[in-house]
Amino acid sequence: MSIPPKKVIFDTDPGVDDAMALYYALAHPGIEVVGITTTFGNVDVAQAATNALYLCALAGRQIPVTVGVSQPLVKRAEPPPDFIHGADGLGNLPHRLATAGTLDPRSSAQFIVDMARQFPGDITLVAVGPLGNLATALQLAPDLPTLVREVVLMGGTVLESGNVSPVAEANIWNDPHAADAVFTAGWPLTMVGLDVTHQVILPLSLFRQIAQHQQHIATDTLRHAVAFYSGFYSAHDPAVGQITGCYGHDVLAFVVLTDPALFTLQSGRVRVAVDGLAQGQTMMQRKAVSYPQHGWHDDIPHTQVCLRVQAQACQAVIEAVLMQDWLQNPLLNC
Ligand code: RIB
Ligand code: CA
Repeated sequence: MSIPPKKVIFDTDPGVDDAMALYYALAHPGIEVVGITTTFGNVDVAQAATNALYLCALAGRQIPVTVGVSQPLVKRAEPPPDFIHGADGLGNLPHRLATAGTLDPRSSAQFIVDMARQFPGDITLVAVGPLGNLATALQLAPDLPTLVREVVLMGGTVLESGNVSPVAEANIWNDPHAADAVFTAGWPLTMVGLDVTHQVILPLSLFRQIAQHQQHIATDTLRHAVAFYSGFYSAHDPAVGQITGCYGHDVLAFVVLTDPALFTLQSGRVRVAVDGLAQGQTMMQRKAVSYPQHGWHDDIPHTQVCLRVQAQACQAVIEAVLMQDWLQNPLLNC
């Protein structure tokens, strides 16, 4: 008997690696994206929602898209990293097709709560941006952790250096208060941080190959976006520059769902530094001891933290899924 696909709400700030992750999920038979909840982060939330609608339209999919939080819960908003993802979030596309698609009128947080109540125990939240939508959903429904199947988030770092400070990763840093609420909520939670996403460097040539194999406006748009995104990483990270590539970051939040055996995880309490020099740091308790410092008491729940990944196998899985013929209609006029 075949296993039904996992129902996933994709919480995202598209964003080029977010776009890779969405297309990986749409291509994978084991994932059913039942909603896309957008947040500020790589772009402002209006642009994030526009991009989510556009990416779905190009792929010929009708999936509910909602507009979520537009700024952090407490801290001052940081400017979007247009130097990484482009001002439009998709590598400054030279033009966009006129596509249909209307937003679901609910907020992202309300959509998450409604779906969790409609499908108790069935919804997986895959969050790959700042975590304000999940934190707001927890405020709306304190019983939410008992209603969702699990949460997988791309964010944080434990042993690997950060990407916005020596200790902080961008998604957590962009809303540390929201992140700490997510890490202490008590739902089944897996953290896919830089400890593993910095091990998987995807060559730009892979996205050219995908666009050549399945000639389609969706794959061509992804190729364009990744070319811009790779330009940043290749210029700023010697390990990436050697192969003219980029970090897949958000895609790994889906790979850990589809191919968990590729990852080595450790269970431990994770808290977030909400201010000061370490703002956005995900601090993991890796030893079973008691501490006098408040905030580490026994009823703080554990997080499953990805510490290692079989990088080559992970890249091969991403390539195999994206090289399938998962799109229906042929190439549209680009
Ligand atoms: O640090 C990488 C994360 O920040 C990814 O989710 C990327 O899309 C940006 O949001
Ligand atoms: Ca993201």
